[in-house]
Amino acid sequence: MTLPTLTLNDGFTIPALGFGTYPLVGDEGRIAVRSALKTGYRLLDSAVNYENEGVVGLAAREYLAKGKTSRGDVTVQTKLPGRHHAFDRAIASGYESLARLGLDRIDVMLIHWPNPSAGLYKEAWRALIELRERGVVRSIGVSNFNERLLDEVIADSGVVPAINQVELHPYFPQTSLVAKHAELGIVTQAWSPLGKRNAPYAEPVVVAAASRLGVTPAQVILRWHLERGSLPLPKSATPSRQAENLAVDSFTLLPEEVEAITALGRPDGRLFDGDPETHEEM
Ligand SMILES: NC(=O)c1ccc[n+]([C@@H]2O[C@H](COP(=O)([O-])OP(=O)(O)OC[C@H]3O[C@@H](n4cnc5c(N)ncnc54)[C@H](OP(=O)(O)O)[C@@H]3O)[C@@H](O)[C@H]2O)c1
Repeated sequence: MTLPTLTLNDGFTIPALGFGTYPLVGDEGRIAVRSALKTGYRLLDSAVNYENEGVVGLAAREYLAKGKTSRGDVTVQTKLPGRHHAFDRAIASGYESLARLGLDRIDVMLIHWPNPSAGLYKEAWRALIELRERGVVRSIGVSNFNERLLDEVIADSGVVPAINQVELHPYFPQTSLVAKHAELGIVTQAWSPLGKRNAPYAEPVVVAAASRLGVTPAQVILRWHLERGSLPLPKSATPSRQAENLAVDSFTLLPEEVEAITALGRPDGRLFDGDPETHEEM
């Protein structure tokens, strides 16, 4: 299966669907990531705070050593934690992540959460720009930034993030933020793309589309992301589900199905109180 790719504003391309890795750790994590690579995933999410950069990097290196795909075809991303936002600390954190991943470079590095009350996200963004200039990181972006925070880092640095990874699923479709990303040339990555513990698998509109197409509700939801131009990062430790989640390239939803799924959105649709203005994650 060949998934489409998305081109970032720095010219690099990444697969249009990736593999979520939280909370996969240790040998179980390595086995799950290895299985994902074998299934065909070529974009692996990770973060300092998931404590799994080591096994994600190891699984990627082991898979690359088999010679079945080239280094340039595998994108590994990680995220800077809130406690490392101060400029020098963020630079050091980039080198530490690089060492834990054990790769020649970090393909994508994101600021994990803005933590506005600490007020250091602009410094953190300048550090990511510096890490890119030093060749430690290839592509840089943010996570959990809203429109105001995006405007601020862009005005401060003159550099537009390549990616913003945010909570996005049918109950929280982030329509205005996705439009803002399109305007700015930012790729939207969706975390908890299936809705995790609150997945809308039983919603009549999802069930109807699944039965029309002969696919599963999870596949309908992942296809909904692709049709809206957002890049889903489904996590599964189950090989059969990993395959199911990747097999979303051979069917399309009708525009009215996309609209009806988006209409499931509601103001209180977040999975937890993860408002970027108030949520603190160090
Ligand atoms: N940037 C951030 O702040 C942030 C926050 C949260 C998450 N993330 C990233 O986003 C990734 C995905 O989010 P998530 O793990 O919260 O939620 P998710 O991918 O929406 O849901 C994962 C859950 O759905 C189950 N599942 C997967 N495929 C399924 C299928 N086809 N049918 C039924 N159930 C299925 C998984 O179970 P099994 O594993 O048992 O199959 C797991 O319990 C994370 O792993 C992480 O990489 C980022």
